[in-house]
Amino acid sequence: MQNNTFPTLFVGQKIERLLCVDSTNTYLKSQLSNSAPLQEGTVILAEEQRAGRGQQNNTWHSEPGKNLTCSILLKPSFLSVQDQFSLNKAISIAINEVLESIIGSSAKIKWPNDMYVDNEKIGGMLIENIIQGSRWKYAIIGIGLNVNQQGFPPEAAHATSLIKILHSDYDLQTLLAELCSSIERWYLKLRSGKIKEIQQTYINKLYQLNTLARYRANEEIFEAELVDVDEQGLLQLYTGKEVKSFNIKEVEFLR
Ligand code: BTN
Repeated sequence: MQNNTFPTLFVGQKIERLLCVDSTNTYLKSQLSNSAPLQEGTVILAEEQRAGRGQQNNTWHSEPGKNLTCSILLKPSFLSVQDQFSLNKAISIAINEVLESIIGSSAKIKWPNDMYVDNEKIGGMLIENIIQGSRWKYAIIGIGLNVNQQGFPPEAAHATSLIKILHSDYDLQTLLAELCSSIERWYLKLRSGKIKEIQQTYINKLYQLNTLARYRANEEIFEAELVDVDEQGLLQLYTGKEVKSFNIKEVEFLR
């Protein structure tokens, strides 16, 4: 474990760098039960993941040494279990803010876990919560960002990366430092109850906000405008007649 020099209070102050691991999320989870208590903000960073995990049991592919694949330990015990999605919002804003500072306002948050630039995916998050009784003990924030990878496999046809956008390499250590600072700033806002600021910022950064687009739900394709994401994290789509609410697995964005 390395003590770090990032100008943060706790996020990124301890970093464990691994050459190869199955998944940084899985590794961090096993460290929580195996060893002495880990400090909040501890980062597990891997050059290569043999079994990187994505949303909905998908695999997360990332060329070794080219991208950012890391997991950050948070202890959001100040939030009730029902408020889980507010952490997702704060972390989404933090990642989006870093991407925006590098590539501009084309960086968007695609509800519920993706980072988009124009219509392509540049990264994603896998937040795994460990609840004890009715308390929220740990959140493992898994982040995968495509940075210096030029080509993507056919199954990731709509993927992009910083190098594809900037036409130059981006230093992974700099990106990690920026990410840790931004995550800490937005996490501290969450901790101090700045829910309204988080909600407003999140909504303003959403991919396809107030735009007519196609969606699929219950095997039906329809056009709607994305108008909100509520406190529980439900997507609100206005169909022209009514606002419909959707949970994470209930709706699909169509191209
Ligand atoms: C997604 O878009 O489906 C989420 C991708 C999350 C990938 C990251 S890479 C680091 C961390 N470890 C994992 O196994 N997954 C997350």
